[in-house]
Amino acid sequence: MFDSNFLRENNAKFNWHPMGHPADDLENPPPIFVSSSGVKIKDIEGNEVIDAVGGLWNVNLGYSNQKVKDAIIRQLDTLPYYSTFKGSSNDKVIELSYLLKEFFKPEGMARSFFTSGGSDSVDTALRLARQYHKIKGEANRTKFISVKLGYHGTHFGGASVNGNTRFRESYEPLLPGCYHIPSPHTYQNPFNESDPERLSNLCLGSLENEIQFQGSGTVAAFIMEPIQGAGGLIVPPDGFFKKAREICAKYGVLFISDEVITGFGRSGEWTGSRLWDIKPDMMTVAKGITSGYFPYGATLVSEEIAETFENSSKETGAIGHGYTYTGHPVGAAAGIACLEETKRLKLKDNAKARGKQLYEGLCELSKKFDIIGDVRGGKGLMTGLELVSDQSEKTPVDNKTMAQIHQKIYDSGVNVRIAGHKILMSPPLVISSTEIDHMLYAFSEGLSIA
Ligand SMILES: Cc1ncc(COP(=O)(O)O)c(C=O)c1O
Repeated sequence: MFDSNFLRENNAKFNWHPMGHPADDLENPPPIFVSSSGVKIKDIEGNEVIDAVGGLWNVNLGYSNQKVKDAIIRQLDTLPYYSTFKGSSNDKVIELSYLLKEFFKPEGMARSFFTSGGSDSVDTALRLARQYHKIKGEANRTKFISVKLGYHGTHFGGASVNGNTRFRESYEPLLPGCYHIPSPHTYQNPFNESDPERLSNLCLGSLENEIQFQGSGTVAAFIMEPIQGAGGLIVPPDGFFKKAREICAKYGVLFISDEVITGFGRSGEWTGSRLWDIKPDMMTVAKGITSGYFPYGATLVSEEIAETFENSSKETGAIGHGYTYTGHPVGAAAGIACLEETKRLKLKDNAKARGKQLYEGLCELSKKFDIIGDVRGGKGLMTGLELVSDQSEKTPVDNKTMAQIHQKIYDSGVNVRIAGHKILMSPPLVISSTEIDHMLYAFSEGLSIA
């Protein structure tokens, strides 16, 4: 066994961190987590903190769900792997696909295509969207439209529809034929418009205009998160998602709801589509599907898309896409157990109640701390703070101050995620009221040092 000094010294020596600079990660080793319980994680120094990040927006059920752990162990003992590529299947993937069809009935999702995570699910959706139009005889529909500040993973398709320069620039050229409309983000937008309804109409106008400009017969799909997560926790104005869906339907553009974060209760509803009262053409899910206990995801499609593929010719409808781990039986067993637990524990209701408590608590703190430029959320356990050194100019707080605030919050018993000058929160959906109060105390301590 390596001791803790060895681990600290070698953290980034042979291991590169996603989204970090290799030299910076060597110089400033992060906390190294070694164990967990409930909604808490313990680092190598013995500090136990509330995980306000929820792993990475994914550990919805917390870290101690015995039913999920038992299901995984049982499956490992029974059939640790078998492929679902044409020619074979396994029992657990069949069961999970049936349960998901039932669970996502209100969204009208009829079939699942399983993946190993969110980026896979997004690229699967983009590829199937193009193939769908080819089957329908509209081979020119190849383009994608998405929203600035959106996050859709890091495969080339997902990165191309991503709306954040930081995840794009170093990897260009990305896919041709991808276009972005402004985010309906009232705090900061190119229209300088803070009224939600007027901003919503301006952004929807951009969507319709872009479809018309490209030529509607060339656009395959529009992809958007119901609440923009990694881009800074942006809740679109009421009605935006529904109207965007209507515009897409008008022009025959498929509407992909990227529900990798919102898929299993995080928004206070079972899905973001249900929250905004729409039926998308496709949904991408991951994260909460297995609550972090196994890497898994799925792309879900409507009955109409399913029938189009199933009634097509052998040449056009065969799916030339898939992953070694598509339909992995251990992932499927984890997914079945997670779905049962997600429903039994009514995670969406706790997300709604605790999300309200957290959001309102942060709004109270914003009256006390001028450094809080914007509090975002109010829909389930997806909450964000934007920190500024000047309220009227909205000047981002510098990195050094952010690091100090981060450390103080950690020392006060809470692990949060810092994205530039924003603090993003997505704790496990099983979090208690007392634990939310502790988060608010830690924020108050952290913000006091600025
Ligand atoms: C909305 C959304 N889509 C896609 C992804 C990519 O998922 P993964 O990191 O599992 O590939 C993420 C990850 O955070 C996400 O938030």
